[in-house]
Amino acid sequence: MNLELAGRIVCVTGGSEGIGLATAQAFAQEGAQVVICARRQHKLDEAVASCLTANGGSIEAVQADITKLADIDKLIAHIQARFGRLDILVNNAGTGIYKPFATVTEEDLQDGMALNFFAQFRVSQRALPLLKTSSFASIINISGRTGIRGNFPPGSSCTGPAKAAEVRFSVDLATELAEFGIRVNCVIPGVVKSEARLRLWETQAAGGQWQAKTALANRDKLEVVSVPAGQTWGVPVDIANVVVFLASPRASYVNGAALTVDGGPHTKSYVSQLYVET
Ligand SMILES: NC(=O)c1ccc[n+]([C@@H]2O[C@H](COP(=O)([O-])OP(=O)(O)OC[C@H]3O[C@@H](n4cnc5c(N)ncnc54)[C@H](OP(=O)(O)O)[C@@H]3O)[C@@H](O)[C@H]2O)c1
Repeated sequence: MNLELAGRIVCVTGGSEGIGLATAQAFAQEGAQVVICARRQHKLDEAVASCLTANGGSIEAVQADITKLADIDKLIAHIQARFGRLDILVNNAGTGIYKPFATVTEEDLQDGMALNFFAQFRVSQRALPLLKTSSFASIINISGRTGIRGNFPPGSSCTGPAKAAEVRFSVDLATELAEFGIRVNCVIPGVVKSEARLRLWETQAAGGQWQAKTALANRDKLEVVSVPAGQTWGVPVDIANVVVFLASPRASYVNGAALTVDGGPHTKSYVSQLYVET
């Protein structure tokens, strides 16, 4: 199937690792011109170097912390100067903090909302004038399963509501931006094995005392007890494939959807499993 993405201008936030990187790679291989952003320059450099392109596709990086308004403005100004329009925005950058309610700090709360919901709102708002100049514009917001299942995993009082806000926000935007021909959809990943993400969760579970040997041994054990036979937890490209399709003209009748991509209802939470004896 030709996804008709060649020559489209795409922005992927948090595109240097994990789901964002896989998504940027997938768009570039379809011939799109992709701009990624993240905070660490060396990870952006590695990401650009690792990307395969095809059909005139390209990938370039802008160092930006999207919890900062000035950096969002820098990102949008770069896209304006380079391309003069934006066809597809993937609001991917996000985080997951899991700890008992009583121990959530003001910083956890501020950081979680700033990256998980406020950034999606702010980047979308500032990208809107560029999206309006596209003849086929689309926004994909990446939420998470914790946003649609109560107390899942336990300790998600900070992250769950922020990811829920992203689902609701996507429906609101789909309705409000329809008059401009801008589709907005939401993708809700289950567990996706990204090195950075597993390490974050394992560090939290170990009270900050992350030990490589212990963590790696536990990963194998947890997969055995948590994932139905014949399946595995997801990998970034599983999400990327869905994002690329939803953003493409082939999904032109899909608007305001929230699509769960988690391997089915029986896969457990990696975070929950970190706290049980296996
Ligand atoms: N992995 C999962 O199991 C899972 C499950 C459900 C939902 N999700 C959602 O999927 C999305 C991607 O998750 P992931 O696991 O692929 O993430 P990841 O591997 O941790 O990668 C996060 C990316 O975002 C960038 N980033 C972090 N903070 C940023 C900031 N303030 N400004 C700009 N970029 C920033 C990181 O680079 P720098 O650190 O250099 O900035 C990196 O490129 C998130 O919204 C997450 O909530 C993931």
